[in-house]
Amino acid sequence: MRSNLKSNNFLNENFKKILTNEEILLLKSYGGLNFNIAETMRENVLSTFQIPLGIIDDLNLNGKKYFVPLAIEEKGVITQIEKGLDLINHGSGINAESSPSIMIGQIQVIDVPDSTLAENNILKEKQNLLLDANSVSTTRKALDLKVRNLETIMGNMMIVELFIDVKDSMGANIVDSMCELISPTIEQLSGGKVNIRILSNLATKRMVTLNTKIPIDIFSDKTIPEKIINASIFAETDPYRAATHNKGIMNGISAVLLATGNDTRAVEAGAHSYASLKGTYNSLSTWRFDNTGNLVGFLELPMSVGTVGGMVQVHPLAKICLKILDVKTSKDLGQIAGAIGLASNLGALYTLVTDGITSVLK
Ligand code: MEV
Repeated sequence: MRSNLKSNNFLNENFKKILTNEEILLLKSYGGLNFNIAETMRENVLSTFQIPLGIIDDLNLNGKKYFVPLAIEEKGVITQIEKGLDLINHGSGINAESSPSIMIGQIQVIDVPDSTLAENNILKEKQNLLLDANSVSTTRKALDLKVRNLETIMGNMMIVELFIDVKDSMGANIVDSMCELISPTIEQLSGGKVNIRILSNLATKRMVTLNTKIPIDIFSDKTIPEKIINASIFAETDPYRAATHNKGIMNGISAVLLATGNDTRAVEAGAHSYASLKGTYNSLSTWRFDNTGNLVGFLELPMSVGTVGGMVQVHPLAKICLKILDVKTSKDLGQIAGAIGLASNLGALYTLVTDGITSVLK
């Protein structure tokens, strides 16, 4: 259902209990990011740049209803998400699951004289390396360390990987700090030279999976579900179509992430690299009939988001959006973003197989 956001009462009626008067005023004043705060976020600030922030009020995820703030400039996306949720809510909403919040840090070691000896030396010292890495944080924890040998056009490289439970943070800072801290020891143990040390945005240990089932009888035109499945199979088979299909998913996901002060580029990089893992670029979601003829959708992607740290705790509107969402954990936030991605995908496919995309631009 489209809420009348312009009505003066919408904010008071819905958020009086969770937002302060000051926060409601900030939302009404279309901004909140003053120059001083902007300067704490990054260097070289000239001004601030605003884009529309709206709210979807009918996400039903794991049996709970959510108001979801979305920051996006593209016309038609909100309509597509609302269409997708409208169909989904005729069933029992969206179910989501997440893996633990484990991020991967990579240390590239070059000019290793003897890779077998280096690997043995590093693995023998694994517990001490993990102890060292864990001196950086009392809350986040390096759990494991692995060594991979990579054949490249420059010869063999050794890649040392740290697996770190970053809890509710996005994790980039802590992962990078831990990798930087143990790099000198890695050089000593391997006899090689550390080149770069940085997290991987292909966060395959931090996944979110979502599914939904839509009863066939809610479609007045019974050919629509099959058309949606045909569009899904097109994307599963053709990278040119998969790119646009996945862009439709990321329309929803990135809008939630931007509103909550998260790093949209990190999640987008993870999503698109995950879509290519099987050797060819693929769709992130699939749509099919189940054995009773209902339309079922499935979406899976890496989700490195945070509810603490970074811009999340600095940007005034990001803080308000997290309050509106009523989430504390990065898992919950990742599931909400994924669910909006699935709805956005379904709404786009529905629009494409019926009136065409220009119908939502009018
Ligand atoms: C436009 O931003 C997104 C769509 O192109 C997605 C799709 O084609 O599935 C409509």
